[in-house]
Amino acid sequence: MRGSERKRTTADSFDRAAADYAEVTAHREGEDLDLIAGWCGDADRVLDVGTGAGHTARALVGVGVEEVVAADVAPAMAATADGIERVEGVVADAERLPFTAGFDAVTCRIAAHHFPEPERFVAEAARVLRPGGSLIVEDNVAPADPDLDAFLNGVERLRDPTHVRSYTLPEWQSMLEAEGFSVEESVPVSKTLTYDDWVARIGTSRERRERLAERFSDPPAGAVEAFSIEYGEDGVRTFASPKRLFRASI
Ligand SMILES: C[S@@+](CC[C@H](N)C(=O)[O-])C[C@H]1O[C@@H](n2cnc3c(N)ncnc32)[C@H](O)[C@@H]1O
Repeated sequence: MRGSERKRTTADSFDRAAADYAEVTAHREGEDLDLIAGWCGDADRVLDVGTGAGHTARALVGVGVEEVVAADVAPAMAATADGIERVEGVVADAERLPFTAGFDAVTCRIAAHHFPEPERFVAEAARVLRPGGSLIVEDNVAPADPDLDAFLNGVERLRDPTHVRSYTLPEWQSMLEAEGFSVEESVPVSKTLTYDDWVARIGTSRERRERLAERFSDPPAGAVEAFSIEYGEDGVRTFASPKRLFRASI
């Protein structure tokens, strides 16, 4: 699928899911959200990219950031964020940001695995930040073991065809360094997901759910431990999605 076509599909998919994302616990709350907001406590102007229902944007306003611009490729997500006081929702592609330089920080929480060319997003973040500004990015990370990487990205893509790739830590490190960022914090984050909710909220088709159940019933060696997969009588009950939260400055 070409980049622009993929982004349209992603926007359509998240437009349909906008109401649900406003309520999902793993997105609405968490220590990661508090940490991101805390790091931005001194900022006046922050851009939140892939804002979804605006949870990060709301947390930023909560710590006193004066102006938050919340960008998302899905119009229904940008409109949801726009409803938050002191937040301006904007429909925008992470890889072609319609802004000039001047943000104190750019945040991007659990969204970059949908970007076809995340290195372009990192370059765009570098362009719109003021000198000395921070890029704060959190995303799912794939383990170093190629079989576990293939399993994680395989199940993510099966559940949601708009998933592009969860990158490894070294891949993130090189994307950031290539644009001149130096990584100042790198914090592991883990969120336990309830399998049925995880599948339901993005509207995974029945055929894909069956294939997903098959993959989880025969995971590669080490996957149960790496992703803390817990099984009930009807298959997977919960599993953990490993993530990394970076704070990098330019
Ligand atoms: C899993 S949601 C995460 C939302 C939010 N950051 C949070 O923490 O709850 C991913 C969001 O990224 C958005 N997205 C995906 N591709 C994008 C792109 N190329 N540019 C901007 N936003 C994008 C989706 O529309 C969706 O709202």
